Amino acid sequence: MQGLMVKDDAVKSIFTENLQTHGAYCAREESLKREEEAGDIKFVCVSNNNIDEHMIWLIELKNIFTRQLPNMPKEYIVRLVMDRRHKSVMVIRRNNAVGGITYRPYFSQKFGEIAFCAIASNEQVKGYGTRLMNHLKQRARDVDGLTHFLTYADNNAVGYFIKQGFTKDIFLEKERWHGCIKDYDGGILMECKIDPKFPYTDLSSMIHRQREAIDEKIRELSNCHIVYPGIDFQKKEAGIPKRICKLEDIPGLKEAGWSPDQWGHTRFKYFNASPDGTVNPKLTGFMLSVLKATLDHVDSWPFDKPVDVRDVPDYYHVIRDPMDLKTMSRRVESEQYYVTLEMFIADARKMFANAKNYNSPETVYYRCAIRLEAFFSSTVQVGLQSFLHFQQ
Ligand code: ACO
Repeated sequence: MQGLMVKDDAVKSIFTENLQTHGAYCAREESLKREEEAGDIKFVCVSNNNIDEHMIWLIELKNIFTRQLPNMPKEYIVRLVMDRRHKSVMVIRRNNAVGGITYRPYFSQKFGEIAFCAIASNEQVKGYGTRLMNHLKQRARDVDGLTHFLTYADNNAVGYFIKQGFTKDIFLEKERWHGCIKDYDGGILMECKIDPKFPYTDLSSMIHRQREAIDEKIRELSNCHIVYPGIDFQKKEAGIPKRICKLEDIPGLKEAGWSPDQWGHTRFKYFNASPDGTVNPKLTGFMLSVLKATLDHVDSWPFDKPVDVRDVPDYYHVIRDPMDLKTMSRRVESEQYYVTLEMFIADARKMFANAKNYNSPETVYYRCAIRLEAFFSSTVQVGLQSFLHFQQ
């Protein structure tokens, strides 16, 4: 296609830079995964097995639990952590436990009960809790053969468990768990179904791949990645183009669904531009008469020319898109600029809005803007009515 330029880099950036590629979730998971790969942290699963190193870690974990779960009796925590039917998945850094989850697998019922879950206070909300849970799920599925977890979540930890995929609705058949787990006061029973396939410890790569697949699909269905060259558009004074650029020559316009019959199309059909693209002379005459009446109005003086920066030094810092009656007159006289009446009215509205934005309501400029705007609107309306009448 002539004039079409698809830049590979631009395409890529639309799908990778403009869109969010890493949520906080992925960023934290990836950073912890890298730490794991570098050997700075490790996730282990241990139980009371008389191995010295494991016993030290278990005692450190027990200490984290007693500090982080003050409502739990210490003796109860020690008992379960050291109970040989319980296992503890822990995050270890520099040979010290940073946090962990103690759970009891019920192998025949294929579910596990999470007894305690905590991260040392100075390490919370850094992603350890999530990565720990992901390691736990992967291990519980692949090593223990479990399909579900149940836990009595502390009221203030419900938010964390919801983010880890736990629900307050229990779908697991009651016969599978009833009688196995004890009721706790002050906690909410929550359930998590372990997915049979999810790569829990590599979720961020999966999310990346899914995102790429979605981007690929969007590229198939949409053309928003196609970048066309810009147009050489130089303006004279008052924003009037130096050289008229034919609309059909604007790269990408037709491809975006534009057709030549839309050129100069206006609500006021009798002012439609002619097919060769020139402004309707009736429209030019109409706009000139409205402008003349507006300029003759007693309140037009603040608007008759562009604001002088020597009088109002900060004006152009505040008003980024200025407009005035002189600029509008030039645009009308160029017979190239205002192709529709709507464009002319839009410039006038912008001029009045600028005045009301920059000046406060008690100022003379603001009041002039209010009165002149009312006059301008009625002049356009009355003018259109008499124009129509004259046409009939
Ligand atoms: N309530 C609501 N949201 C939480 C909570 C909480 N108490 N703690 C963490 N989150 C959110 C985080 O803001 C984060 O959200 P985001 O992904 O939208 O940013 C998400 O959960 C995961 O955060 P992580 O950094 O992975 O979690 P963290 O390492 O802090 O571990 C934990 C969470 C274990 C709850 C930790 O905060 C903790 O030890 N808290 C005190 C002890 C506790 O309450 N344990 C649970 C008791 S219930 C039980 O043991 C069965």
